[in-house]
Amino acid sequence: VIDLRSDFLSSATPAMLAAMAAAATDRKGYGPRGDPHQQRLEERAAELLGKADALFVPTCMMANLLAAMAVVKPGEAILVDSASHVLRSESGALAALARAITLPLPSVMGRMQIADIAAALDTGSIQQPRSAMIMLENTHNKAGGVALPRDYAAAIRGIIGSTWMHLDGSRIFNAAAALGETAASLAASADSVSVSLNKGLSAPVGAILAGPKDFIATATALRQQIGGGWRPVGMLAAPAVVALDTMQAQLPKDHRNAAAIGATLAECAGIIIDRATVQTNIVRARLKHPALTPAAFEAALSTAGILTSVGSDGAFRMVTYHDIGEPETEHVCRQLRAILGLRK
Ligand SMILES: Cc1ncc(COP(=O)(O)O)c(C=O)c1O
Repeated sequence: VIDLRSDFLSSATPAMLAAMAAAATDRKGYGPRGDPHQQRLEERAAELLGKADALFVPTCMMANLLAAMAVVKPGEAILVDSASHVLRSESGALAALARAITLPLPSVMGRMQIADIAAALDTGSIQQPRSAMIMLENTHNKAGGVALPRDYAAAIRGIIGSTWMHLDGSRIFNAAAALGETAASLAASADSVSVSLNKGLSAPVGAILAGPKDFIATATALRQQIGGGWRPVGMLAAPAVVALDTMQAQLPKDHRNAAAIGATLAECAGIIIDRATVQTNIVRARLKHPALTPAAFEAALSTAGILTSVGSDGAFRMVTYHDIGEPETEHVCRQLRAILGLRK
């Protein structure tokens, strides 16, 4: 089965499994940051992201939430992209748990407009919620995995004054690979950054929150408060170090495979796709086919051994990762042509 529903479905490599097995019998740490493998992971992540410190957390959603809880006081505002993962797919946690008000701003190709951000910032009036934080997302999931260049974050930095910038960099290493940049340079304008270890990097589980030392100390205490103080964690941290060190190099291959799927979809009948959005490992398109319903399309793909979720409006996403090689990509492209037919 070729499962294109998400890159978190990637499997651990033999080197990761060997690191896990070795860590299973290693000395374990006792305190919340006492595990030697966790310490190595956090040091390596901080270095790669260009931040003073980093914390290993169970999910990227928890990393985003901890950033808000650490910085934003109840009733203060977070400026967010209205199509962002944090607003659309994180269960209202910013309101429920960080007790923040979110101010959603429209975005085009994953970018909020600078003028909209400037207009949404508070003016200092006590009638307005203080603009405590702005959140960006790179790569941008709902926009089709587009990679935002560092100039974009720098331009926002230039107008927000002391407002904290948090970057949801769940797939920041994909953005870095696509732009020929380092993750640190893409995160340079942000005060804090979150990263998924279990997506394109294919670690078994986990995410990173990185930022200044006092921020990470606060986030560590808050992580405990929300039940994220996982121990012992060496068996999960050890393969994540391998993921950071070995998996960045294969991301361009994932991007080439996504581009091939995007190009094939553009040739097929009944598909609406903007190929300009296919910049990394995510392909987003919509089915509007004369002879196929979304459910029939999903079922035909499934019969061909390809899993993807097709919404009732025809919208679907295909995500590549290291288990999806060229033969799998060719199979997907062949099946898409066979199921949909070619555009006349
Ligand atoms: C952009 C973005 N941020 C955050 C997350 C949340 O990651 P997790 O599932 O580790 O909480 C995702 C998950 O797909 C994502 O796409």
